[in-house]
Amino acid sequence: MTLTVKDFQSMKGSKPIAMLTAYNCPVARSLEKAGIPIILVGDTVGMVEMGFDSTREVTIEHMEYHVGAVKRGAPNTHVIGDMPYGTDNDTETALTNAKRLIVAGADCVKLEGPKLDVIEHLVKNGIDVIGHTGLTPQTAENFKKVGKTSEDAMRIREESKAIQAAGAFMLVLEHIPEDLGKTITEEIDIPTIGIGAGSDTDGQVLVINDASGIGDYWPPFSKQYAQVSETIDQVAKAFLSEVESKEFPNNILEFKQTGN
Ligand code: KIV
Repeated sequence: MTLTVKDFQSMKGSKPIAMLTAYNCPVARSLEKAGIPIILVGDTVGMVEMGFDSTREVTIEHMEYHVGAVKRGAPNTHVIGDMPYGTDNDTETALTNAKRLIVAGADCVKLEGPKLDVIEHLVKNGIDVIGHTGLTPQTAENFKKVGKTSEDAMRIREESKAIQAAGAFMLVLEHIPEDLGKTITEEIDIPTIGIGAGSDTDGQVLVINDASGIGDYWPPFSKQYAQVSETIDQVAKAFLSEVESKEFPNNILEFKQTGN
């Protein structure tokens, strides 16, 4: 059963929230089967799946495509549609684009930075919103940890409170010091979901490609639970060798027996 905003809010301080990204149908199906309660169709898709150097290349059409695929794979899981760069710059543009993601299959949207008037406007128009502060890749100059000086830490704390006040029901905290993640989690009432924000946030999110070992670079704060790229390398090498030696398809027993 798809968990609601209320369900997630009641998990704060009682049950850690596990969020993973997904970009396609079969992966979303696996996440739902495993019981992951909330899936983020992140604009990281641009970097980890589409080969772009930044998330800024991702368009609303790309996100509609991926949100639709994920919802078809995980119809009973809460799906977040990430607002791509430049699609939430003002209240009306943001509402139009957020509605497109909802129509595509998202249950709520996530947007980066303290766009307080936009968050308020979306919430007023019935769209549930997740905030995102700390490192915000759409506008960051690099992917280094932020919030290390007391001024920057204070800015992120203030942003977090303002994003909550604007009506967001959950907040992603990316790549900030562990003690800052803890302070913010204690200071606000909505659940915090950390990525590189230490162990004291209300939940954790990982990019599925990082968690699965797909690709050749993974951020130091991520963990690889498998090495899927290595498996694909092995599959490709074995197939190449068997096609060249004509071992495949002759070594498929059923094919040889039935011809089907
Ligand atoms: O786009 C994304 O996948 C994200 C996560 C890194 C939190 O925003």
